[in-house]
Amino acid sequence: MNSHEIKIAFNEYNTLAELSIPDKLLCDEAVRALETSHSPYSKFKVGAAVLLQSGTILHASNQENVAYPSGLCAERVALFHWGTAHADDPIVAMAVTAHTNDFKLTKPITSCGACLQVMAECEKRQHQPFRILLYCIGGPVWEVNGVQSFLPFMFFEDRLIQQPSL
Ligand code: THU
Repeated sequence: MNSHEIKIAFNEYNTLAELSIPDKLLCDEAVRALETSHSPYSKFKVGAAVLLQSGTILHASNQENVAYPSGLCAERVALFHWGTAHADDPIVAMAVTAHTNDFKLTKPITSCGACLQVMAECEKRQHQPFRILLYCIGGPVWEVNGVQSFLPFMFFEDRLIQQPSL
């Protein structure tokens, strides 16, 4: 038996002020996207802003449904929109933030596994990783370059292809 250990690395900025101006603006756009959140059930708003190579910014938010599993996270709303309308314009960075009146968020929310897997697919489609900025309003920002840091054992499509026999 062999034991293995995987370490992940991410950057932490104590406040928004430590970011570059474009990254700060992208986090601000994610905050703007909170306004469109439809979250009457969880009362937990999530906003996402996606910066494309052309400079276009896509906005999205979580969209809940009375049939709970029919709702969708902000990240996947954003990324499926990208795949539908902007897939020829690579994603450079994505900012995600959250807000609830029920309690104070003190650290960034980290995207769910399904959203991470969709991020992985988008990186695969555009043949390059993108930076992910997780922003806690009034608090820190966590940054990774590429979803692999958050999902080292992501499912790759090559697992669906029969491997050549040795
Ligand atoms: N949510 C997101 O939008 N993104 C995530 O990565 C995790 C959770 C949403 C789903 C639901 O509308 C609310 O947050 C509470 O789970």
